[in-house]
Amino acid sequence: MTTTKKSKTPTLTSNEKTPRILSIVNQKGGVGKTTTTVNLATALAAVNKKVLIIDFDPQGNASTGVGVENTQREVTSYDLILNDVSLADATQAAAVPGLYIVPATIDLSGAEIEMVSLMKREYRLKDALEGAVGDYDYILIDCPPSLGLLTLNALVASDAVLIPLQCEFYALEGLSHLMRTVELVRANLNPELSIQGIVLTMYDKRNKFTEQIENDVRQYFGERVYQSVIPRNVRMSEAPSHGKPALIYDMHCAGSKAYIQMASELLKRERQLKKDKELTAA
Ligand SMILES: Nc1ncnc2c1ncn2[C@@H]1O[C@H](COP(=O)(O)OP(=O)(O)O)[C@@H](O)[C@H]1O
Ligand SMILES: [Mg+2]
Repeated sequence: MTTTKKSKTPTLTSNEKTPRILSIVNQKGGVGKTTTTVNLATALAAVNKKVLIIDFDPQGNASTGVGVENTQREVTSYDLILNDVSLADATQAAAVPGLYIVPATIDLSGAEIEMVSLMKREYRLKDALEGAVGDYDYILIDCPPSLGLLTLNALVASDAVLIPLQCEFYALEGLSHLMRTVELVRANLNPELSIQGIVLTMYDKRNKFTEQIENDVRQYFGERVYQSVIPRNVRMSEAPSHGKPALIYDMHCAGSKAYIQMASELLKRERQLKKDKELTAA
């Protein structure tokens, strides 16, 4: 850790990277946001990407999931957005090589109210992340299960959103509400925000809604829906209690394999996106 203060105007030299910032969002709880964040981050780190997780949920499950216990969370995402702590000072190495995290504690639950009276309250996280220029390949923000001011901060700070979707009865209703929110953010706060993708989680063919919802989502959102689906797999739910990503706990289980496949699909999409951008710029 260094004690340098965050730089508000980072300079970008030619050999520095600009991190790709993705918010993992769904206002419903228990749909696989944290599991997706942790395992996707691990899969990306495994192919030599430098990855930072911002745990932006007061429940702190992503922190637990990469082995950062409560007692080790001295500086957190709360300090990052409310105490002017630099990103470097809030970041810790996770147990996985190449993976870093800004942990969260329950303190973060007070942040929404504390931010209300602040200037530029929707930009707190964006401003804090500016210090990351040149350092990371990917920054994944694990969002809380709501569309409040914390999630709004995440959306303003992000290039794109990744939506884990569980195939259940109310999934589509929630999804259209989320899409409207993304539209509003794009119109008012962050014109660059795009939808990186939708990934079906806890996929279970035996559930009668699965097929119907999958068909509807694929028909409506087309290519934006990942081909890879994440199956319901008990090993995935065991891993957090061992303080390890499932990918480390049991890399051969069906869930881990699915996240590896998803990560490779993500990298392919990202490469294509970069190509398209270069073509438009040329
Ligand atoms: N593919 C899966 N198979 C089985 N259990 C899963 C899977 N993905 C997540 N879980 C479990 O479901 C619960 C909710 O997942 P989580 O990722 O914490 O959701 P969220 O962050 O959206 O609240 C957790 O107990 C998690 O371990
Ligand atoms: Mg979570």
